[in-house]
Amino acid sequence: MALPLAVLVSGGGSNLQSIIDRIEEGSLDAEVRLVISNKAGAYGITRARNNGIPTKVMSHKDYASREAFDRDMVAAMREHGVTAPEGAVVMAGFMRIVTPELLDAFPDRVVNIHPALLPSFPGIHGQGDAAEYGVRISGCTVHFVDEKMDNGPIIIQAAVPVQAGEDGDSLGPRILKLEHRILPQALQWLAEERLTVDGRHVHVKVGPKPLAAQPRADSEPSAPALVWPPLEEGF
Ligand code: GAR
Repeated sequence: MALPLAVLVSGGGSNLQSIIDRIEEGSLDAEVRLVISNKAGAYGITRARNNGIPTKVMSHKDYASREAFDRDMVAAMREHGVTAPEGAVVMAGFMRIVTPELLDAFPDRVVNIHPALLPSFPGIHGQGDAAEYGVRISGCTVHFVDEKMDNGPIIIQAAVPVQAGEDGDSLGPRILKLEHRILPQALQWLAEERLTVDGRHVHVKVGPKPLAAQPRADSEPSAPALVWPPLEEGF
């Protein structure tokens, strides 16, 4: 069975689109059964509708607590056939901390994408914070979610060089391109049940597919981006 997914968005939904595209191409064996947004105007909701995916807009402001909000999200996921242990939840630019109401319903099945090399630069401005700090390498991280913000066992990371004087606006798009590759790859590993969590460590079982060519950072053709574990064919 294709991996049943609920995707949570707060904004543009380009990571949602990368999931939809890989499913369409056949490299990701998943089905997006529901897209939930906490923001009514999120373009991610439009992307879902354009692809015939059921959507639900739930403003967190209408709820007395984070727990009550998460309870309703889990109920909506159940209604659309997204339950553990088969199903999984993707936080694709979802700018909310989640609670045990969601996490206990999906043990080791909630995944987040973050635009920095965690544990550095958590929060909502990962790209800008890294550029401002002056790091020479930044990137993105896909990890299992726990109760802390941008925390939890790391599945895959991709690194890009940072030029002196860059800001979040110039760095962000290069990181985003890699997000669109590592998030579907991590989900395909989940779909193939190749991930095991051992404390903070995630083991990826070796698969049959050969490695894909490694992506390169746009602004510095001589400097390849590092992705680890390596991307496989199709990602
Ligand atoms: C992405 O860059 C994602 O990594 C980030 O929000 C953006 C959403 O873009 N998430 C976080 O910062 C989580 N802390 P998208 O809506 O186009 O996918």
